Amino acid sequence: MHLLTEEIERYIEAQSSPQDEVLAQLTRETHLKVQMPQMLSGNIQGQFLSMISHLCAPKRILEIGTFTGYSAICLAQGLTPDGKLITIDINEELKPMCDKYFELAGVSSKITGLYGDARRIIPTIDEQFDIVFIDADKHSYCTYYDLVFDKVRRAGT
Ligand SMILES: C[S@@+](CC[C@H](N)C(=O)[O-])C[C@H]1O[C@@H](n2cnc3c(N)ncnc32)[C@H](O)[C@@H]1O
Repeated sequence: MHLLTEEIERYIEAQSSPQDEVLAQLTRETHLKVQMPQMLSGNIQGQFLSMISHLCAPKRILEIGTFTGYSAICLAQGLTPDGKLITIDINEELKPMCDKYFELAGVSSKITGLYGDARRIIPTIDEQFDIVFIDADKHSYCTYYDLVFDKVRRAGT
């Protein structure tokens, strides 16, 4: 689904920094090996997430919906030196690919991948987050919102 016209997309792409080589490799491998590669974030979304994360300088980020790790890598770029990102996905088959790219992107020590149904996992996490990125199955967004609400720090995003 295209939310923007091609002209606007081309303009934004031209004004954005070029895609990092590791993320370009991740994108190629996702398109070659993973079903529904259109779920992947692209350069524009990734740069936006990275910018938000750099602006907030978060200590803790929660992501719901890892897929092959693109957005987790972008969000992790803005973490404080001691910051951590927890990312949840129901599809454990994606773990080896995520781990490979977290390593290549130099963020593996900052990211914990949890596998299973986020609706079950979120209540077991005893943390406060500065940023929560909900990007899993669309029909559960209200449930995720309710589940994370008390886990978002004051002035969190
Ligand atoms: C749109 S993709 C995430 C894309 C990723 N954030 C990115 O930007 O590249 C949605 C992901 O949500 C996961 N998912 C769907 N239902 C889920 C659930 N109940 N719990 C956890 N993850 C789920 C899917 O397996 C899929 O990998």
